[in-house]
Amino acid sequence: DATDKGEFRHYMMKEIYEQPKVIAACLEGRISENKVLTDCFGADSSFLKNVENVHIVACGTSYHAGMVAKYWIEDLANLPCTVEVASEYRYRKVAVPKNTLFLTLSQSGETADTLAALRKAKELDYLTSLAICNVPSSTLVRESALTLLTNAGAEIGVASTKAFTTQLTALLITAIAIASEKGALSAIKEAELVNSMHSLPAHIDEALKQDVAIKKVSERFANKHNALFLGRGPMFPIALEGALKLKEISYIHAEAYPAGELKHGPLALVDEDMPIISIVPHNSMLDKLKSNLQEVAARGGELYVFADKDAELQNAEGVIFTEVLKVDEILEPIVHVVPLQLLSYHVAVVKGTDVDQPRNLAKSVTVE
Ligand code: G6P
Repeated sequence: DATDKGEFRHYMMKEIYEQPKVIAACLEGRISENKVLTDCFGADSSFLKNVENVHIVACGTSYHAGMVAKYWIEDLANLPCTVEVASEYRYRKVAVPKNTLFLTLSQSGETADTLAALRKAKELDYLTSLAICNVPSSTLVRESALTLLTNAGAEIGVASTKAFTTQLTALLITAIAIASEKGALSAIKEAELVNSMHSLPAHIDEALKQDVAIKKVSERFANKHNALFLGRGPMFPIALEGALKLKEISYIHAEAYPAGELKHGPLALVDEDMPIISIVPHNSMLDKLKSNLQEVAARGGELYVFADKDAELQNAEGVIFTEVLKVDEILEPIVHVVPLQLLSYHVAVVKGTDVDQPRNLAKSVTVE
């Protein structure tokens, strides 16, 4: 029952722990053993073949999911993709290239700016509109030509968690479907990706086992007033999401930067009072990120590093290392946001804020 917290103190924690189950529900019927099942987009999935550009529009956490999808769509399908917050999109003149898919993301399907953006897009010359949404009866679903439901179940905590990871799952399905239908992805590569996706629920389950370790880290963190999150590639939007979670529920001022931008400004803020949180998956950008971390350490900054064991990082003077699970690169944004959700949750609990109902925020912003 969605309104029952069960064994948990807060809805947010319950929803964090529901992620293995709801991600499985999001994958159900959308992938076979080695392929994405394109009929999950409805009877007419011809847009997958015809699409030449993608415009993604959303707000808040949903916008961050869209930012991750840009990396996947450009990488897997080799199609240009832009991502924009709905409150900007709705008020500007937009150039729409031929055969562009208009893609909205929304947990509630009732966000005023996202609905206004969809209504505007319908006046423009788009190929079609697809909504990735959690609420089947929502206005966004009703007004969009196509829908892919995230199947996360009711989300009650204002800080979005399971809605985000299921949006990412649905976006990965979409990116693979487009790439496959456009001939940008070999059957072998598609099978590899789909195989990885089958292990997502188990990986998230495993990631949740770091809860106790992250709770410990959060105790050191709760007296801070500022924090800087760093990430590279698709982990940059995850850094943004980590910073947003921390602001929303613990009221700690937090920003996120692509790690390579550190030297273009934020480095000036780094001292012993400015903790840096970095998610460093073991990918091709690891060495670059390690050198960014050295820049921080050299200035006395306290580093909270989340990395897998192959990254060969460890606790050191000023470095607080938390091991995260090693997963296939494509899954990293989905799996590695979990430790950041847990971190913000535990910091908020230590600070004694109202985790499920943070001040000044609404679950769904239905008026402008
Ligand atoms: C509000 C919520 C956020 C959410 C955003 C977009 O700001 O507090 O958690 O990400 O709206 O909501 P949507 O329902 O469109 O995803």
